[in-house]
Amino acid sequence: MKMKRICHLLFRMLFLLDGGVWSLKDLTISVPRAVLSGDGQSAVLRCSYDLEGAALYSIKWYRAETEFYRFVPREMPPTMVFPLPGASVDLTQSDHQQVRIVNMNRHLSGDYQCEVSADAPLFHTDIESAPLTVVDPPFRAPHLTISRGSYARGDVIRANCSVDEAYPAPNITWLLDENKIAETVSWRSPDLDFKERGAFSQIEISIMEAEHYKMGLTYTSASLNRVYQDHYVYDNADMEEKDILRYTLTPPTDGQFSLCCVATIYDIYARKSDPVFIKEDAPHPASVTREDSSGTIRSSSLIVTLVCLSILLTL
Ligand SMILES: *[C@@H]1O[C@H](CO)[C@@H](O)[C@H](O)[C@H]1NC(C)=O
Ligand SMILES: *[C@@H]1O[C@H](CO)[C@@H](O)[C@H](O)[C@H]1NC(C)=O
Repeated sequence: MKMKRICHLLFRMLFLLDGGVWSLKDLTISVPRAVLSGDGQSAVLRCSYDLEGAALYSIKWYRAETEFYRFVPREMPPTMVFPLPGASVDLTQSDHQQVRIVNMNRHLSGDYQCEVSADAPLFHTDIESAPLTVVDPPFRAPHLTISRGSYARGDVIRANCSVDEAYPAPNITWLLDENKIAETVSWRSPDLDFKERGAFSQIEISIMEAEHYKMGLTYTSASLNRVYQDHYVYDNADMEEKDILRYTLTPPTDGQFSLCCVATIYDIYARKSDPVFIKEDAPHPASVTREDSSGTIRSSSLIVTLVCLSILLTL
C-alpha cells in the first residue's frame, strides 16, 4: 500500500519535471500596436500555442477583461461572439488561432488578451496580453510657420508646427534638409482616456557666425534633441522655455536650407507639412573682406618685424 503511494508520487514528480503531457506551451499573442479606425479597417489578432498533442478545450479573447470571442471545438457551433460596442467580429476569418475585428473605433483601444485552455484531464490554461490602439488621425497635414524666410549668419530662426486633434496625440519630428534634427514626443499614455488632442512643437535654429565656423567650433546637435509634451491645448498655448527645441546650424554652403515637420502616430500614420526654404539674405562679402584684411594685417606686421630684425642685425 505504502509502496503504491510512493510510486504514485514519483510518477507525479516525473510528470511535473517533464512539463507534463497534455500541457500547454509557448503561448504567444500577436496584436498590431495600432490600427486606423473606421469603415473598411480591421485588425487581425493572433494567438499561437503548443498543446503538445492534447486537444484544445477553448480559446477566449478579451478586451479589457470583457470576453468578446470564444472558440470551443467540442460545441456546435464552436464559435460564440459577444458584441464589442461599434465593431464586429468577422467570423469568416476567425478560428482557433485568430480573430479579425472590423470597423473599430478609438474607444476599443486597450489591452487585448488571449486565453487558451487544454482539454481534460488537466485543463491547463494560460493567458497573454498586448496593447492595441485604434487611431483617429489628424484631419489635415501639420501646419508650419516660420519667423522669417531668410537668414544672416548669427540669426535665430523660430518655427512652430501645429497638428490638429487626433487620438492619440501625434509626435512631431523636425526635418532639416530631410534629416531628422529634433522631436516633440507626446508622452501621455493613450489608454487613460479616449480624448483627441492636438500637438505643438517649437524650434529655434541658430545659424552660426562665419567666424565661429572658421575657428573650428563646428558642431551640430550631436544627439537628437527631444522634448516631452503632456498635451497641447489650443487656447492655452503658453509654451514654457524648456519646451522649445534648439538646434545649431553650420551655415549651408549653398546659402539655403529646407525645413519641415512631420506628425506621426506609431508606424501607421505620418504626414509632412509643406516644406519652407530659407535662404541666406545676401552673399557674404563681409567675411571674405575680413579674411583678406586680417591676412594683409598679418603680412604687413610680418614685414615690419622683418624690417626691424634686419635693422637690428645690421646694427
Ligand atoms: C509660435 O507660437 C508662439 C506661441 O503660440 C507665438 O508666440 C509665436 O509668435 C509663434 N511663432 C511663429 C514663428 O509662428
Ligand atoms: C512617440 O514617440 C515615443 C518615443 O519614440 C514612442 O514611444 C511613442 O510610441 C510615440 N507615440 C506615438 C503616438 O507615435
